[in-house]
Amino acid sequence: MGFNGKKILVGITAGIAAYKVAILVRELVKNGAEVQVLMSPDAHAFVTPLTLATLSERPVMTDFFNKETGSWNNHVALGLWADLFVIAPLTANTMGKMANAMSDNLLLATYLSARCPVCVAPAMDLDMFAHPATQRNIAQLAQDGVHIIPAENGLLASGLSGLGRMAEPQTILNHLSVGLFNGFNPILKGKKILISAGPTYEKIDTVRFIGNFSSGKMGYELANMAAILGAEVQLVSGPSHLTVKHPQIHITKVSSAEEMKNACLHIFPTVNIAIMAAAIADFTPAQIADKKIKKQKKETLELELLPTVDVLAAMGNIKEKGQFLVGFALEDHNEKSNAISKIHKKNLDLIVLNSLNDHGAGFATDTNKVLLIDKNLNETPFNLAPKKEIAFHIINHISKHA
Ligand code: CTP
Repeated sequence: MGFNGKKILVGITAGIAAYKVAILVRELVKNGAEVQVLMSPDAHAFVTPLTLATLSERPVMTDFFNKETGSWNNHVALGLWADLFVIAPLTANTMGKMANAMSDNLLLATYLSARCPVCVAPAMDLDMFAHPATQRNIAQLAQDGVHIIPAENGLLASGLSGLGRMAEPQTILNHLSVGLFNGFNPILKGKKILISAGPTYEKIDTVRFIGNFSSGKMGYELANMAAILGAEVQLVSGPSHLTVKHPQIHITKVSSAEEMKNACLHIFPTVNIAIMAAAIADFTPAQIADKKIKKQKKETLELELLPTVDVLAAMGNIKEKGQFLVGFALEDHNEKSNAISKIHKKNLDLIVLNSLNDHGAGFATDTNKVLLIDKNLNETPFNLAPKKEIAFHIINHISKHA
């Protein structure tokens, strides 16, 4: 989801997290965006306009007028110029003014003039954030159509720890790319969704396992995207170094195919949509040795493997009317016919086909190329693109049919 050629207004207000916005601006520019930074007057105390002007390659704007030349920074033109406006960090003070249509600085006047999608990343101390007045203002902004990038839990500048940290620049970028794609339309609002991700590890003995090369990236991107688009997400993840932070994602960590099955079958009856992106082992050792298996001069070692339960097929069996079930198929030959037979065998509504013959698709890459095939055998292809973008297309497609 490129930022190439997109015009983005970045508003910075006076919070300690302002220093992180330098990284956001750099990433946007690196990815081809035109960035105009607006700062509230007090934000200058937290990060210098020089830093931001250098990174954005444009003078930073703060005042309505340039006091020396008398030239006017036209907030109406800025509001019309932008494809997207992000305000990060958003302080309680500016939030309150936005919620009440106050415009005592250029940033606020531009907000009121903007016709593009607007999103904000609130940041403040935990008690300020939790205050009913702040929560009321956040709810008001959301009702006014502003997309809220949720504050995160963690260490705060006060030394206290709790909810109120500004979302990390990478998280903000994820939200911005959704805004550019669909204007922050919360297409999964009110939906509960189960997403499985990552590999499974099948234990052989106390130190060894059988695994696979799945990184979990596709499933984690789907979980992030579904949460940004309004869903309540249950992510069931096999071993993966990836993390998720969105407050609407609840993660259950599992290791083996058996644990994956238990978690998914427990959650499935409570959701509207399930997407099984996990690479679940088809076989598991018949026995797990309770001590490390020694070499003992053996020429060969035989392992007996038993089939695991096909979790997706088990979900297909208990699927209720109104539930929408999505499987993945990773194939290297007869791709389409194999994928179609999985739709029938596992009672799916949709299958996402990756071919190992497509360069840049499948396991452990940052990109993917997929073909969506629905139960009526309609096909929707998506060209090679970052997994984030593929995740958007998959979720967008599901939202129209689930
Ligand atoms: N899957 C599952 N449980 C398993 C194996 C796979 O739920 N024990 C799910 C995967 O999450 C994926 C789909 O089934 O959504 C297809 O997985 P894949 O490995 O491509 O196919 P299999 O059904 O295992 O068939 P094969 O390995 O023969 O291609």
